[in-house]
Amino acid sequence: MFRSVGWIMLVLAIGAGVHFALQGIIQSGDAEKRKGPDMAKLERLQAVDPARAAVVRAGMDKYESICRLCHHRLGIGGKFTPAITGRPEEWVAAMLIAYRAGSQIGPLTDLMAPWAKDLSDEEIKNLAAYVSTL
Ligand code: HEC
Repeated sequence: MFRSVGWIMLVLAIGAGVHFALQGIIQSGDAEKRKGPDMAKLERLQAVDPARAAVVRAGMDKYESICRLCHHRLGIGGKFTPAITGRPEEWVAAMLIAYRAGSQIGPLTDLMAPWAKDLSDEEIKNLAAYVSTL
């Protein structure tokens, strides 16, 4: 009985260790990992253009839930992932459409393509809008 609890604890500990090690490899800096998106910027946009802010917001939610892991909170990329900042919205959308279509882009296409595969046109539009604000 106590033996199996011990094993379960060990497996959980290894699982957590692998998870954090992977995060550490992909992104460096502990404080950076805990930071959220730039809500002040979104609020400023909300004040001048609520419709646009809604699109950006939807993109932000999606980005935070998937893309951030590899491309960093600020879109500056990671050890194996390219920076996607400072690009026009149309470029981001075109890249996502190309990955979704199964095109071979760079040497690490296999790492990126699965995340674009199931994106809808709407999600791509939202993501491109958000990424262009980074
Ligand atoms: C598992 C890590 C990972 C995730 C998650 C991920 N990407 Fe990527 N992304 C990459 C890698 C690696 C590349 C470069 C692939 C290549 O060589 O073609 C890339 C490339 C890109 C590019 C093209 C960059 C360039 O310079 O060619 C864009 C745009 C992009 N990703 C956006 C996104 C968005 C938006 C999401 C969320 C839906 C996302 N990525 C999720 C790893 C990831």
